[in-house]
Amino acid sequence: MKLFPMSSSRFYLFHFCFLLITSTSLSKSNFQPKTLFLLVKKDPSSLQYITKIHQRTPLVPLKLAIHIGGESLWVDCENGYKSSTYNPARCNSRQCSLARSTSCGNCYGNNTTRPGCNNNACYNVVTSPNSYTDGEIADDVLSIQSINGSIPGPIATVPNFIFSCAASNLTQNLGKNVKGMVGFGQQSPVSFATQLASNFKFSRQFAICLSSSTKRNGVIFIGHSPYFISLAYDASRDLIYTPIITQPRYFTITYPHYVRINRASPEYYIQVSSVRINGKNLRLNKTLLTLDENEEGGTRISTAIPYTELEASIYDVVSKSFVSEMPKEVKKVPAVQPFKTCFNSTYIGMSRLGYNAPEINLVFQKANVYWTIIGANSLIKVSNDVICLAFVERKKVSGQAIVIGGYQMQDNLVEFDLARSRIGFSNSLFFHQTMCSNHNYA
Ligand SMILES: *[C@@H]1O[C@H](CO)[C@@H](O)[C@H](O)[C@H]1NC(C)=O
Ligand SMILES: *[C@@H]1O[C@H](CO)[C@@H](O)[C@H](O)[C@H]1NC(C)=O
Ligand SMILES: *[C@@H]1O[C@H](CO)[C@@H](O)[C@H](O)[C@H]1NC(C)=O
Ligand SMILES: *[C@@H]1O[C@H](CO)[C@@H](O)[C@H](O)[C@H]1NC(C)=O
Ligand SMILES: *[C@@H]1O[C@H](CO)[C@@H](O)[C@H](O)[C@H]1NC(C)=O
Ligand SMILES: *[C@@H]1O[C@H](CO)[C@@H](O)[C@H](O)[C@H]1NC(C)=O
Repeated sequence: MKLFPMSSSRFYLFHFCFLLITSTSLSKSNFQPKTLFLLVKKDPSSLQYITKIHQRTPLVPLKLAIHIGGESLWVDCENGYKSSTYNPARCNSRQCSLARSTSCGNCYGNNTTRPGCNNNACYNVVTSPNSYTDGEIADDVLSIQSINGSIPGPIATVPNFIFSCAASNLTQNLGKNVKGMVGFGQQSPVSFATQLASNFKFSRQFAICLSSSTKRNGVIFIGHSPYFISLAYDASRDLIYTPIITQPRYFTITYPHYVRINRASPEYYIQVSSVRINGKNLRLNKTLLTLDENEEGGTRISTAIPYTELEASIYDVVSKSFVSEMPKEVKKVPAVQPFKTCFNSTYIGMSRLGYNAPEINLVFQKANVYWTIIGANSLIKVSNDVICLAFVERKKVSGQAIVIGGYQMQDNLVEFDLARSRIGFSNSLFFHQTMCSNHNYA
């Protein structure tokens, strides 16, 4: 087992050299897209946001779950991974250090090699929403469609895209035929957008636009804006920005090797300073709202959880305020799992912004910098005459005070600008008479 403790400055110098090498191998194809895109659709059973990526030789379409705070791309290599261009990362190679390998050696227990199980190969930690393991680091061909303005363009190919090869049981609970996850995390040279930006020399940024429908695709743009949601609307034009907070991470994994990881977390943390409902400031515990050095408290953004999670005391204050700001004729009804605050929807009004709900503001670095959550993102219909506050109480005793989940980001454009270390929120696209599935990119 080998560990690769490295200071981040050395790390980026190393990364830079790697870029020079890969760019020469790419020069045979001189197509340099500025923006790439993926279509993404919510799986009705797992509520994960699923995209399709083409990988291997010959190319195979793979369904992968989006993991905004994930370190890298990983796929199930146990079930029928066939490719003439699969390269396991050899011990001490560049790929191992870029992918922050945590161990190195032979595939234990067997003398037969296959993708995911080679000798003299390195491993890193692969995580899914409720499990983790270690996976062989490898590279293979990956292709993805480009876009120019609002016009889909040629397919772009990365010959040596670095990923991890995991055991198939890690795909449990991701959805039907979902073969892995694609991580867009920060501070990781092998995260999806970062590798593509390095290969095609565009800026390190991407934007997600999740559809509220399980039938119609939303879109993820990777690379330069504009981000055209509909033919005439570039959703990158008016965003509300807040800085990305980086955080060192220390954690220990004992299976199958003892590993202590000490590096910047790939998760996206931001500072929510206060919460307002219908303009009224809620009394929340400020300590909880601040991320501490143990990765506790604060606010994180996650597409891997369907509904925003709030620490219990915060949930309580938000729920009470929301109930008291609801129109009087909208009565509370018994809870419907996983929600705790539900209403009879018979007398609630509707507009183009969804249900007429109290407006929720997540206030960032200043009182006048805030993201607005409207009825379409704060209430969910659970049956014919019942709607619920689409926030859930955090079950774990520790973790972030607020984890912004998929439902609240639907039909908003959320831009992750790594080059400038900031995240931009568009507010609901319903204000602009459009939505994330309005594009014509299918
Ligand atoms: C995008 O389209 C414009 C005109 O439609 C063209 O001039 C430009 O070269 C294209 N950019 C790329 C990266 O293909
Ligand atoms: C070892 O290889 C054989 C076939 O070559 C395979 O059937 C078996 O599952 C492998 N065992 C492990 C532990 O990977
Ligand atoms: C693996 O190969 C080594 C050396 O060739 C041999 O000694 C060992 O028995 C083999 N193990 C298995 C499980 O086949
Ligand atoms: C997944 O499979 C590996 C063997 O491939 C096993 O060791 C591990 O315990 C399994 N993990 C879970 C969560 O089932
Ligand atoms: C605020 O939260 C912190 C961290 O959980 C806790 O130690 C503290 O007692 C809380 N303060 C109040 C006033 O509840
Ligand atoms: C909702 O209100 C309507 C009209 O008062 C009533 O008929 C219905 O039973 C109520 N539903 C629930 C779940 O309380």
